[in-house]
Amino acid sequence: MAGWHRVTALSLGLLLLFCAWCSGRPAEKCLGGETCRSPRPPVVLIPGDLGNQLEAKLDKPSVVHYICYRKTDTFFTLWLNLELLIPVAIDCWIDNIRLIYNTTTHTSSSPPGVFVRVPGFGKTYSLEYLDPSKRSVGEWTSRGGGQSGGGQPGETARPADRTLCPLQACISSASCRRWWSGATPEMTTSEEPPTTGGKPPVSPHTPRPAAPPAGPSSPPLPSVSPADENKEYFLALQQMIEEMAEKAGGPVVLIAHSMGNMYTLYFLNQQPQAWKDKYIKAFVCLGAPWAGVAKTLRVVTSGDNNRIPVISSLKIRSQQRTAISTNWLLPYAHSWPKDQVLIQTPKANYTVQDYERLYSDIGFQDGWLMRQDTEPLVSELRPPGVEVHCLYGSGVPTAAAYSYSDKFPDVEPAVLYGNGDGTVNLQSAVQCKRWAGRQRPPVTLKELPGNEHVNMLTNFTTVAYIKTVLFSP
Ligand SMILES: *[C@@H]1O[C@H](CO)[C@@H](O)[C@H](O)[C@H]1NC(C)=O
Ligand SMILES: *[C@@H]1O[C@H](CO)[C@@H](O)[C@H](O)[C@H]1NC(C)=O
Ligand SMILES: *[C@@H]1O[C@H](CO)[C@@H](O)[C@H](O)[C@H]1NC(C)=O
Repeated sequence: MAGWHRVTALSLGLLLLFCAWCSGRPAEKCLGGETCRSPRPPVVLIPGDLGNQLEAKLDKPSVVHYICYRKTDTFFTLWLNLELLIPVAIDCWIDNIRLIYNTTTHTSSSPPGVFVRVPGFGKTYSLEYLDPSKRSVGEWTSRGGGQSGGGQPGETARPADRTLCPLQACISSASCRRWWSGATPEMTTSEEPPTTGGKPPVSPHTPRPAAPPAGPSSPPLPSVSPADENKEYFLALQQMIEEMAEKAGGPVVLIAHSMGNMYTLYFLNQQPQAWKDKYIKAFVCLGAPWAGVAKTLRVVTSGDNNRIPVISSLKIRSQQRTAISTNWLLPYAHSWPKDQVLIQTPKANYTVQDYERLYSDIGFQDGWLMRQDTEPLVSELRPPGVEVHCLYGSGVPTAAAYSYSDKFPDVEPAVLYGNGDGTVNLQSAVQCKRWAGRQRPPVTLKELPGNEHVNMLTNFTTVAYIKTVLFSP
């Protein structure tokens, strides 16, 4: 969802966020230190689409080009490695990162001989740098005018270093596995439903926090829809939260960005209220696409290279269409006017009510199945049942509708812009307002005028707000 160029800002943003929390290994340094005595809640970060590393190992029956590796001895970084995105190499990359959707089982898997895993569950490194060599991020960072240049974001981060030092931050990056592409073989091959009451199934290679004992009060997660292949992730997340809360002697703050909010809402919707009362202090939502985003329509229709000229939109479309989550995030009828044209072509107009026809007309029938699989996951927008702080950017031109020529769908569209944060349409971001008065814990909305979807993570106002949530009694 965030585009290629956004990866820059995303890395930078998260890096700075982490600088605020983690640099200087504050946890050890501050133990017993004067300024660090007051209790601070542990934090779980749930990143957005494209927001964490993926690794792959290959033993493929065939490759699409002779320069592509067929077999590797070890796992290598699949995301983000800019070297894999240059012409020709990108064909190898697409053939590795794409998912194969089974229309019978409504599940997806990596291509034969491709094993993808998410490194760093419960740790922060795989989110701080998308590229482990740190090289490309460094370059992109300086181009982004941030960190090394001593710009505004760097300055916002530094004071926070001191005040936030005792935070234990953990990320739950495994969620991102399906958010846009990769699937870990361990997770997708496990067909067994979670056992209720007893210990949840643990696959030996699944990255997870060390042996968290399931407390007597920990509820079994109900089985999830067949479309949801993330149940082990949710179980690991639940256990990590329980473990962190018990260690810290208090509840955890969840901070999600972008699509991570959809995952977090789904997760909280599955938990009994007593569990949430015990373990969750607050849920901070940053740039949440509660009702989908119009931009995904372009992604499935004609692909979106985010204006990087070396990558052909149509070529990247083939990969982007396999990411089931793109279809999950098509605009939702509950928040878009039924008669608003989202895609216009010389032959037809498409609104939120015309997705089946749209998928058929663009030659992507599986997409309609993927949409039906995913749409019900959080479409009711049931209140999460925890204290909510819903922050969103506005006033940034945001794609709202597309107009195609008669070459539809194999052509770049003209874009019609509306209000939002540059990615998430405003009418989607504000849907958390539905929860006010419908749940006991408070729901607070905060508009951040002028904040772009990813850059909001480094904005002083955002960081200051999060601090007030963390440090409130
Ligand atoms: C889809 O899954 C079913 C059941 O596991 C299997 O029999 C079938 O071969 C799969 N289809 C494809 C195209 O792989
Ligand atoms: C699509 O909608 C526009 C107005 O939004 C209208 O002018 C046009 O005739 C419609 N096209 C078709 C094919 O219905
Ligand atoms: C941060 O966000 C606030 C609130 O939206 C805005 O007024 C301010 O200009 C932003 N700061 C920067 C440096 O973008």
